[in-house]
Amino acid sequence: MLILGIESSCDETSAAIVKDGREVLSNIVSTQIDIHKKFGGVVPEVAAREHLNSINLVVKEAFEKANVKPDMIDAFASTVGPGLLGCLLVGLNVSKTLSIIYNKPFIGVNHLNAHVDANFIDSDLVPPFICLLVSGGHSQIIYVKDYGSQQILAQTLDDAVGEVYDKVARLCNIPYPGGVMLDKMARLGARDAFCFPEAKVKEDEFSFSGLKTAVLRQVQKFNQDDLPKNDIAASFQETISKTLIKKLLYFSKKLNCKTLALAGGVAANSRLRERMEELKNQGYKTYAPILKYCTDNAAMVASCAYFNPIKTDDPLLLEAFSRD
Ligand code: KG4
Ligand code: ZN
Repeated sequence: MLILGIESSCDETSAAIVKDGREVLSNIVSTQIDIHKKFGGVVPEVAAREHLNSINLVVKEAFEKANVKPDMIDAFASTVGPGLLGCLLVGLNVSKTLSIIYNKPFIGVNHLNAHVDANFIDSDLVPPFICLLVSGGHSQIIYVKDYGSQQILAQTLDDAVGEVYDKVARLCNIPYPGGVMLDKMARLGARDAFCFPEAKVKEDEFSFSGLKTAVLRQVQKFNQDDLPKNDIAASFQETISKTLIKKLLYFSKKLNCKTLALAGGVAANSRLRERMEELKNQGYKTYAPILKYCTDNAAMVASCAYFNPIKTDDPLLLEAFSRD
């Protein structure tokens, strides 16, 4: 089954053609990061207009790269939410229109489910498994009991992990989105240079605002020129990865499930991936999406359309939604 997926929920316009949910024939991503950099974050109105500018070209390229004609597609899919409404509408309407023109089903996809399903691409992962989803907008632990069943076990009370990365990066004068750069700097620093606190929260909660404040206090003790950026990045990254893996293991034990996965933009983080690799020596089966499928992309949307579509009688009536 060939599915064309479209993703336009935030600042990446992407189209992909995926076979049977696991084999990517094409995945074209046009990022707006450089446009939003000067504003220090994503400007929704600007993002929506940029999606409009790039969507036709991105979809055309997805067909060309896969060497597939539109009438060979079995279903057209798109992210329906959560995300920025004006942005979502672009991908959603293009996908619905294609489905009407070519008389094939439209499939709506939840962006968070899609991040989780990025783990199925080019992999042998089968449910049940527990997934740590960490992106710019969400931090959750999810129990994937079956392909179509995702249950949230824990989520953040305040900032998402990617958001904290971007805010800490800004404290260190690194432009938006700072996660990747902070990760690179962390690899050059000492993980034990600073002792940052882990939040004391309930089993089904995360909280990162205290950690953010602790980093801010430390940064304020230095002049910008003398700031030990690498050490701060490494110590911050150590605390975050420790907290996340600890909670993942807590639920692994509780549900007696030793298959674990990562998802979301922060799943690209080197320390988090390293810690997941280390778990393999302790009898766990661990998975993480290939780097290019961690941050927003349409391959994960097409994969999710195959494995875990939004269930509804008439998908063409699905409307974009901003929050989960
Ligand atoms: O999933 P994503 O592309 O967009 C959302 O749905 O939010 O995630 C983007 C987030 C940004 O906050 C970015 O800084 C973070 O993922 N990120 C990273 C890394 N790569 C991307 N954070 C830490 N380490 C990384 N290597
Ligand atoms: Zn995302």
